[in-house]
Amino acid sequence: MNKEKFIRGIPKADLHMHVEGAIEPEMAIALAQRNGVDLPYRSADELKAALDFQCLQSFLAVLKNLVSLLIHEQDFYEVTFNYLKKSSFQNVAYADLMFDPQAHMSRGVAFDTVIQGIHRAQQDAEKEFGIRSQLIMNFQRDASIESAEQALDEALRYRDRIVAVGLDNTELPQFYTLFTDLFRRARAAGFKLTSHCDVDEPTAVDHIRGCFNQLQVDRLDHGVNVLEDEQLMEQARSQQICFTACPTTDYITVKDPLSDPYVQRVSHAAKAMLEAGLCVTVNTDDPGIMGGRYINDILIDLDRLVTLSKAEIVQLMRNAFNSIWVNEQERQDYLTALENYAETYANHGEL
Ligand code: ADE
Ligand code: ZN
Repeated sequence: MNKEKFIRGIPKADLHMHVEGAIEPEMAIALAQRNGVDLPYRSADELKAALDFQCLQSFLAVLKNLVSLLIHEQDFYEVTFNYLKKSSFQNVAYADLMFDPQAHMSRGVAFDTVIQGIHRAQQDAEKEFGIRSQLIMNFQRDASIESAEQALDEALRYRDRIVAVGLDNTELPQFYTLFTDLFRRARAAGFKLTSHCDVDEPTAVDHIRGCFNQLQVDRLDHGVNVLEDEQLMEQARSQQICFTACPTTDYITVKDPLSDPYVQRVSHAAKAMLEAGLCVTVNTDDPGIMGGRYINDILIDLDRLVTLSKAEIVQLMRNAFNSIWVNEQERQDYLTALENYAETYANHGEL
């Protein structure tokens, strides 16, 4: 079996995607019309032309425009369902879905509206396609602590529907110092903990250290700058902290993602992390806005850039299934399906 086919067929988990980042351009235009939102783009093509990210801040500015489209429960449902359906067709067996309640509550959209729409999509997608998913609620690193506390209060009412809390949006200097108490409270309430440490942000290594030691995260989103610090790598290995790398690109470079410096940067880092024995995974981040690329596109391009052996592809998925927060029986079921697939196809046919 050739490697592209092997990648397409392998059972997968996607541990880092944002519901808000799953709005595809065509969907955005339809939502704008349906909800009477005045977008600065008149067509999907105009929006794609604007999806040209030079840095985290320029990306977040476009994301903010798109978030304003999500108003009703049905909007959250459709975006989530579309992602889960497309992912299940790419053999994603399990996905962690991130959502940002503060981005909605600050616009007067109720927490209940957000979570009901997403939850209904999770249930329907599991019923129709068999894809399993859980929710990670992200706090925004640049919003007030009071609004984060409020989001956590709301989340406690849905404790059984949310598996973890995380941090995203603008990476403020030493953001981890602001969230120590909140994360302690979340941990005590039974949530797992994760945080974004975006790629090559200023003082990235210090941020990773702060997330490890002050926030005591179970997982780190992106976090590829860990490669710059031998001690942190050792800590990540011994504490089995999982990294969710995302070699994603925007609509401008999507025709030639391999030439995108960000895709190159993250792909080489992911390969180096694998070789260093770190628990690294590969994920979609914002599939709607990032060139409409889902997990297979991302993995196939990763292989084209840094050449993965079949064993390395299997290891990426093993890392993912070992890092999800499910009961041991469910984990074993995923791992068994993965190992069976590997045994059946890894050794058959030339690459
Ligand atoms: N929100 C969506 N994607 C994000 C990312 N990669 N970093 C920070 N905030 C985000
Ligand atoms: Zn992200």
